Amino acid sequence: MSWSTLLTACVLACAPRLAAAAPAATALPSYVTQFAPLSYLHSTEQYQPADVATYLTHMQPEVGMSATANSVTFSTIGSLSSSTFLTSKDNIEDLPSWLNGVKPDSTGLTSSPATIIAVEKSGGIVDAFYFYFYAYDHATYLGLQFGDHVGDWEHSMVRFVNGVPQDISLSAHGGGSAYTYNILTTSSSGGRAVTYIATGTHANYATTGTHQHDLPGLDDHTDAGTLWDVTKNFRGYWFDNSTQTFSIAGGAGAGASVEAGEGVGWLNYAGAWGDQQYKLLHEGQYCITSTECKYVSGPTGPIAKNLGRTAVCQKEGSCTIETSL
Ligand SMILES: *[C@@H]1O[C@H](CO)[C@@H](O)[C@H](O)[C@H]1NC(C)=O
Repeated sequence: MSWSTLLTACVLACAPRLAAAAPAATALPSYVTQFAPLSYLHSTEQYQPADVATYLTHMQPEVGMSATANSVTFSTIGSLSSSTFLTSKDNIEDLPSWLNGVKPDSTGLTSSPATIIAVEKSGGIVDAFYFYFYAYDHATYLGLQFGDHVGDWEHSMVRFVNGVPQDISLSAHGGGSAYTYNILTTSSSGGRAVTYIATGTHANYATTGTHQHDLPGLDDHTDAGTLWDVTKNFRGYWFDNSTQTFSIAGGAGAGASVEAGEGVGWLNYAGAWGDQQYKLLHEGQYCITSTECKYVSGPTGPIAKNLGRTAVCQKEGSCTIETSL
């Protein structure tokens, strides 16, 4: 028998057995949704939550700015090299409408599922990561567009100890802040932390107002604009840190109905989720310094956000957990 015949025979004979042997999905603990943050997008936000599935239909994988395939799907993305940039097939300067995502309705529901990943750790700890995805990050600096990128992954993480929410970290510009959980709850939030998402950059904050980051004048703005309740529509997963593997945990809304069919391979993708920084000659590109440009490279995905962290913060070296706002 040739290898291919053997393989075909095995695919036919083994597939039902493999499917039967797959472990039943373990649901996320109820406290993961009960204490999920309630997040407010800015009232002027243009780039609303996006569905990863929709996004992929507009992308092709590129390495060194050359396409390695003309499309990407949930079943192919997991095997792409980490030097890949998912790259828009449309000219971003034309602002294609899929960049806009879908604004949540008055109940906090958007048709763009969030991604929730839970990680069990020793000491009764479960870290629940609430991932927010957007198709575009738009920033302005002194009236110029600055640091824009295609694809935008942000997250908050709640650390539960024996099912009780203890601390929360909020991502912002590759870093972020951390707080004891209870100081982010309000009298009307039903015990849930309330967070605010900055216009355009989607950085996460604990308060409304102006937040300076990086350079003076480079500010983020938050307000209690549009509620996004991620528990209404999400794809849920477990991440086993000892084996570095993901498994399906069920979800809610549209996310729950699609995630089993999509599989978990996409979460292993370690490349970039958006276009590589355009060269200076590219349409629309300009740079303020040698590195600080209108268009920069897209971000990495959930797997690169230190899911196995011991400290509460993504950057563990300097992790201060604030006890007041
Ligand atoms: C998760 O796994 C990584 C890599 O093996 C390890 O460095 C880290 O300490 C683990 N985290 C926890 C909380 O055990």
